[in-house]
Amino acid sequence: MELLKYTFKSPGRINLIGEHTDYNDGYVLPAAIDKYTYITFEESDRFEAYSKYFDQCIEFLLDEKKEKIEWLNYVKGALLYTLKGTKREISPWKIEITGDLPLGAGLSSSASLMVGVVYGLSHVENLGMSRQEIAITAHKAENEFVGVNCGIMDQYVVAMGKKDTLMFIDTLSKKIEYVHTEGFPKMTIIDSGVKHDLASGDYNKRQMECREAEKIVGLKLRKMSLDTIDKNRKILGNTLYKRALHVVNENVRVLKAIDAIQKSNWKDLGRLLYASHESLRDFYEVSTEEIDFIVNELKKIDVVYGARMIGGGFGGSVLILSKRDLSEELSKIKIKYENEFSVKMKVYSVGLSDGVQSL
Ligand code: GLA
Repeated sequence: MELLKYTFKSPGRINLIGEHTDYNDGYVLPAAIDKYTYITFEESDRFEAYSKYFDQCIEFLLDEKKEKIEWLNYVKGALLYTLKGTKREISPWKIEITGDLPLGAGLSSSASLMVGVVYGLSHVENLGMSRQEIAITAHKAENEFVGVNCGIMDQYVVAMGKKDTLMFIDTLSKKIEYVHTEGFPKMTIIDSGVKHDLASGDYNKRQMECREAEKIVGLKLRKMSLDTIDKNRKILGNTLYKRALHVVNENVRVLKAIDAIQKSNWKDLGRLLYASHESLRDFYEVSTEEIDFIVNELKKIDVVYGARMIGGGFGGSVLILSKRDLSEELSKIKIKYENEFSVKMKVYSVGLSDGVQSL
């Protein structure tokens, strides 16, 4: 008898602007991209997961225990938290993971995997979850089971992204507006080859600093103005002052970016990307030498409107907005970069995609 087999295609994401704002009730402007995690559910007599990325196949129990193998916790957490909401018994599945979405490159491979697994399980077990429920479930599982206190941006866009659009999300009200990208500049991603690992703690530390700043000022960051931050500069101290400054300014930049897009003003949009990068580098301190090198090289090219690090930081990728294809310029930067840092840099041209789907 042939075993039932279902495959799902779950995208990665870029974030045009609005970095480290989503766990501060702020604004973000991400999009799902045409780089995917493919997840296959196959009927089985036990729970088993195979990752092509790690070339590992592991049998596991669907219990609350965390696994030693880190990637498996993303799969297990997604399955467990989906079931928590349903109180249903399910049959075991073999889950196979492959894809062309690079891991740890700031393109949200973790949300792509977790949302894909929740979506897949909902589909194969007929749980009838909405896309928003799927995003919330994957988010909760990453926070509580994996232990990364990420915001909601990645799960929302992986679950609810739409082809050729950016998603403007107000993470306080959870209201979504889709922003069309006709006539948009060319988008390119450079993976710096420096892997980030948000589970390692720096990401959670930034989040704690934000909560601390709010405690000192007695106001949520979403409600703080630049004036408030300046008045509280002394009691905040240098580090928390810089963190708050980034978040408040970044929210303003997202709104300005939407205005620039509506006016097709790509130069202004590019300037906002550069400003966001500088703020992430100097105030939020989540960039790296390698990423800064790439952004500085891009600044010298006049057909580049703007560029910045995207995602959680501490490595990962740079997003570029340019007037035209940059193949020639980027191959020169690649040589310089690899000579300087002895790390491989990868270039991807990206299109904007729909959210997770069945194949
Ligand atoms: C990671 C998190 C997101 C968001 C970004 C930074 O990608 O998963 O929730 O906080 O970092 O903007």
